[in-house]
Amino acid sequence: MTVVLAACAGLRWSGSPPQEGRSPKAALAHLAPTGDLRPQPAPMAPVAPEVELVLSTDPAKVRPRIVVTAPSPARLKAALYPSDLGYETVDVSGYPLRIQADYLVYQRVCSKCHTLARANYAPHVGRAWWRFYIMGMRTRSSWKGAPLPREDVRAILDFLDYDSQARKLERRQEFEGISAELEHYFDVEMGSRMERLQKNRSVLKGH
Ligand code: HEC
Repeated sequence: MTVVLAACAGLRWSGSPPQEGRSPKAALAHLAPTGDLRPQPAPMAPVAPEVELVLSTDPAKVRPRIVVTAPSPARLKAALYPSDLGYETVDVSGYPLRIQADYLVYQRVCSKCHTLARANYAPHVGRAWWRFYIMGMRTRSSWKGAPLPREDVRAILDFLDYDSQARKLERRQEFEGISAELEHYFDVEMGSRMERLQKNRSVLKGH
């Protein structure tokens, strides 16, 4: 997936033209996000981000706009939540080693029944919410057969706690920008699902 970050005026952008000899892109290079705005072939093997910064001269636009290119038809078809359309991996290369180890547990456990993206891009933040969610899931029948070891729960909660703080709160604009894009794609997909349903219904009714 290619990601384009269109950074607009307002981000400490004074309105004066970029310095001679420096392209707007170079001038804004320090704003390049270091997070998971990009696909990664494998966890902990981050690739160069496909991020393009476009300088807008429109002073009315004060927020950076993040553009996530369209998810594949297969992903759209399978999505039940907007977050299902997000990235399957989190760039944990900047996280403490302990949290990177916890991430492996999280990946293993939380991708069993649905996309890991559903968890990666869930809007929820904070240990209390996640603890509640995991406890709820543990009591569901599908997990009764394979109970989650206490140690795994601890690792997953540690990861979610740290990751919520680092990725969803400290880099809020970026996270919200991506989430808005995922919601947009999801809404369009839901619209076409409804249309197909309506069509099928008319066919069944014979008109
Ligand atoms: C046993 C299968 C299973 C596993 C394992 C699983 N999930 Fe889920 N998850 C589901 C199902 C089914 C749903 C759909 C809604 C529901 O039943 O709550 C769901 C929904 C979700 C949602 C969306 C709910 C919301 O309110 O936003 C999130 C977030 C989520 N899972 C995170 C996780 C995390 C984190 C883990 C790892 C701890 C995990 N899931 C592991 C089955 C699973």
